[in-house]
Amino acid sequence: MADANSPGPDRKTKGLFIKTYGCQMNVYDSERMRDVLAPLGYAPVDAPDQADLVVLNTCHIREKATEKVFSELGRLKQLKEAGGGAMRIAVAGCVAQAEGEEIMRRQPAVDMVVGPQAYHRLPEMIARLARRTGDRLETDFAPEEKFDALPEARAPEGPSAFLSVQEGCDKFCSFCVVPYTRGAEYSRSVDAIIAEARSLARHGVREIVLIGQNVNAWHGRAPAAGGEPSEPSEWRLGRLIRHVARIGGIERIRYTTSHPGDMDEELVTAHAEVAQLAPFLHLPVQSGSDRILRAMNRRHTAEAYLRTIERVRRARPDIALASDFIVGFPGESDRDFEDTLDLVRAVGFSQAYSFKYSPRPGTPAAGMQLQVEEAVKDERLARLQQLIGEQASDFNTASIGRRMQVLFTRPGRRQGQALGYSPWMQPVHVDQGASVLGGLADVDITGATMSSLTGRLCGAVAEA
Ligand code: 5AD
Ligand code: SF4
Repeated sequence: MADANSPGPDRKTKGLFIKTYGCQMNVYDSERMRDVLAPLGYAPVDAPDQADLVVLNTCHIREKATEKVFSELGRLKQLKEAGGGAMRIAVAGCVAQAEGEEIMRRQPAVDMVVGPQAYHRLPEMIARLARRTGDRLETDFAPEEKFDALPEARAPEGPSAFLSVQEGCDKFCSFCVVPYTRGAEYSRSVDAIIAEARSLARHGVREIVLIGQNVNAWHGRAPAAGGEPSEPSEWRLGRLIRHVARIGGIERIRYTTSHPGDMDEELVTAHAEVAQLAPFLHLPVQSGSDRILRAMNRRHTAEAYLRTIERVRRARPDIALASDFIVGFPGESDRDFEDTLDLVRAVGFSQAYSFKYSPRPGTPAAGMQLQVEEAVKDERLARLQQLIGEQASDFNTASIGRRMQVLFTRPGRRQGQALGYSPWMQPVHVDQGASVLGGLADVDITGATMSSLTGRLCGAVAEA
């Protein structure tokens, strides 16, 4: 049977370069854009100067991310002109959604603008460009139509793959652009998710990462066939995970990113009962101050977050916890910031991302009084990162001397080195690891830094 991703005999191969910014949703979307464009003869190339089509898959979450896109577009314009103007440039992702018209105005070298729920229309847009007719901007919200239009077969690049189960967000945290750029919460059907997971497993994928802006808000109806009579008709993420775990070949499951308000009992219990579910949870809290959490419209208190962490730890005592933090939200006082440090001390994170608050156009927080000075934000960020770094170091150091199963996803920087991930999401480097690339192997951990581990393949002889 012909490979769905190979170009037809009469199609000339064209170079495709996609640059991805931002979150795992964009990583997934970039891969799916490749799948959508493959039947047109587009094949990935290593650099934009080899490409017939360059796609920037953009992120709008913070100001810096947007500015990076405009400077990258300036560089691409020069490249396009140097090549005689034949190269096509498309802007996709959340900046495309939020500022599509502005991009077209500010950078005429851009040929197409396509939002995160409309990229299945890229083939039509390319055809319209060739005919020089019709719209060059597509930013409709049509997640259902998108998922129906995407090819079912995927061509995963390694042993770990993202699978989008949920998109958009209805939470409207007051600092966040996601509800505006990605639209309302949408859950894919159980059947579509299981079919995609099976397709990934058939392609040799060993780890599936279920992703969504608010992945634990996922819900769906039980499929007509495949469920058990004792199961409820309405499923939530915990049950979906149990079913993904039954697919032969899937040895690890993760999910990201979650909201504390959606950590229901079924999901917590899955951490105790599903062997393939990794002992890792990324549960953003943003702040440890109830006053700030209220102003952020997070809909939970610091205390409620700590109780949720306790429930998860009871279910899976060795679980590694990660989070996101924002410092310098409007009105954040020294006391509020101290509350955040207290929360970090109370939990003990294995890793965490922290950001300075960045006002985003159109969000309620951008118009709030008492914006915090940049210098104060800098100082708070440094103190928070110092504390998080110490916790990450402690967590990793405690791994020295232990044996753990590592999924090796790519070659390391040094010759013969392989890089993988522990069940607790620690990056692990081993030398002489070429033979284990793409698979799971036991590793004896010999060294640790704040951000990664080093080890020896189990049974391998130590170098003198
Ligand atoms: N400013 C700073 N950080 C933000 N995040 C989202 N919006 C903003 C903003 N306006 C952070 C949050 C979120 C992560 C993906 O990005 O911590 O969890
Ligand atoms: Fe943004 Fe809040 Fe939704 Fe997360 S839960 S995507 S921070 S609005």
